[in-house]
Amino acid sequence: MFGPQPTDDETQAVVAFLATLDQPPNPHLRDGKRTESANRGRLLFEGKANCIHCHKGEYYTSERNYDVKLEADGSPYTLWNPPSLRGVWDRGPFLHDGRSKSLDELLQKPHAAEKLGGKELTADERKDVIEFLLSL
Ligand code: HEC
Repeated sequence: MFGPQPTDDETQAVVAFLATLDQPPNPHLRDGKRTESANRGRLLFEGKANCIHCHKGEYYTSERNYDVKLEADGSPYTLWNPPSLRGVWDRGPFLHDGRSKSLDELLQKPHAAEKLGGKELTADERKDVIEFLLSL
């Protein structure tokens, strides 16, 4: 990241420090559990919307880079790596250039399921998927 090259020991020390950090408690869980809406959203995420194609496993990401069909933003890149969706409730704005101010805005247009190999979601289904995302 443009700083001086760290030694292996320094890198390991930073990794060890990162491993000691606790995640903040997720305010969208009820007694540590997902809501009904979030459970429905999970099924949509893994099924109809096919989000799981790129956001998979424990961290909801994958190794490849994808063209997610975003309108040009002046960036020389067209391929992006799926960010982990863990802790997405505590983030935003979304996408590499922050073009989506909310998850609803994101899923309605620039990152709509039907653009990415899934099936179009109804407004209610989108709400459930967002509840699921907020639970991660
Ligand atoms: C073809 C692969 C692919 C599919 C399918 C896909 N995503 Fe993504 N997703 C990506 C990539 C790549 C990015 C990063 C793009 C960027 O930064 O501009 C991303 C970004 C995101 C972000 C923004 C995260 C952030 O911190 O900015 C969210 C939220 C998200 N995806 C949720 C979903 C949901 C929900 C679905 C299903 C409707 C889905 N994705 C389907 C590849 C995919």
